[in-house]
Amino acid sequence: MIRFLTAGESHGPGLTGVIEGLPAGLDLSAESLSRDMARRRMGYGRGGRMALETDAVRFVSGVRKGRTLGGPVTVWIENRDFRNWEKIMGAEPGEEPQSGEPERAVFVPRPGHADFVGGIKFGHRDLRNVLERASARETATRVALGAIARTYLALFKVRIASVVRAIGSVSWDGPSEELWEDTETLQSRTLASEVFCPDPETSARMVEEIRNAKKAGDSLGGVFEVRALGLPVGLGSYVQWDQRLDGRLAQALCSIQAIKGVEFGLGFAAAALPGSKVHDPFLPGGAGGPRRPSNGSGGLEGGVTNGLPLVVRAAMKPIATLYTPLPSVDIRTGETLPATVERSDICAVPAASVVGEAMVCLILAQAFSEKVGGDSVEEVLAHFGETERLFRERVRPGGIR
Ligand SMILES: Cc1cc2nc3c(=O)[nH]c(=O)nc-3n(C[C@H](O)[C@H](O)[C@H](O)COP(=O)(O)O)c2cc1C
Repeated sequence: MIRFLTAGESHGPGLTGVIEGLPAGLDLSAESLSRDMARRRMGYGRGGRMALETDAVRFVSGVRKGRTLGGPVTVWIENRDFRNWEKIMGAEPGEEPQSGEPERAVFVPRPGHADFVGGIKFGHRDLRNVLERASARETATRVALGAIARTYLALFKVRIASVVRAIGSVSWDGPSEELWEDTETLQSRTLASEVFCPDPETSARMVEEIRNAKKAGDSLGGVFEVRALGLPVGLGSYVQWDQRLDGRLAQALCSIQAIKGVEFGLGFAAAALPGSKVHDPFLPGGAGGPRRPSNGSGGLEGGVTNGLPLVVRAAMKPIATLYTPLPSVDIRTGETLPATVERSDICAVPAASVVGEAMVCLILAQAFSEKVGGDSVEEVLAHFGETERLFRERVRPGGIR
């Protein structure tokens, strides 16, 4: 089964990710990850850090001559900013500064960040020890691992894309079902927008919203939508709570820094509608199995994929670092002070949509590896082919004996 971990601090030497359970023989190169890595660094409203980092990915294990070997694949992303932080973030014990306090120490927690809770939980007086790991810089690794998972999913012809649906009070209902189906066109239109919203008029209003927030020293959140097309029936399971795919996807998306809500298909809107307007009828569909005229379920019933596109949206809270800071308290003295300001984005919903895609890729790759996994690409494709054949027989009228 595919599993993965990330490691590293925001201003440490670099970030590491390990993914295990990939079959041998999968084509992988740093180049194949570069598109997603570049997209994560984009978006109107990002801060200065993104200009400093190139986020070049290096494979340091598990890949030889552009192919996976079957062992754990390790990615390494250098933090170029480390050269300015070596004295502060280096691993070896250094000289104590004359002041008695570490340089760039943080004692005034930023509301909405992990600073305060992390300080109490781990006993860190210098809250830099918390924010360095809690920071969303870590998502660079998730995007690298997600791009690897995307390559694995391509074996099954699964396509994953995302758009930004809302920033602050500006929202958009699209794209149309037809545009989602035409994934390449959708992706190029999304990339053409400074905020990854493929509708130019809404995109311009979103940019304006961010510009106004910046002027006011404020920040913004929003909503993005991720879809996966080409999923077969039967990924995930209803037999145990932790195997339900909706639950696993929700956890993965909520684990992204600042994501506070996740919905599938009609989502929260379904709660206000009668059942007749929510559930997707079965209509006769011949040898290909019953047809579904709608997709209110978002592609999951009973925690199992139902063959319709996976539709999932995530809500991001506004960025917690405010250039007009909220009141906070110096943890050493109890004195009221403005919260610490660490270089920050004003809005990172476009970048979060790329991280959301990565998490969806990773969870779907896990689900495929549980169902049709194998030690080599050849074996995986054989398992997948056999399962597809069996399921095609079963969906025909009278196919389940
Ligand atoms: C891609 C991305 C970039 C982010 N950039 C920033 C940032 O520059 N400044 C900031 O204060 N928060 C940023 N955040 C959000 C914080 O990391 C997040 O609010 C914080 O970790 C607390 O989130 P939590 O309450 O969900 O744990 C970013 C989040 C993501 C997903």
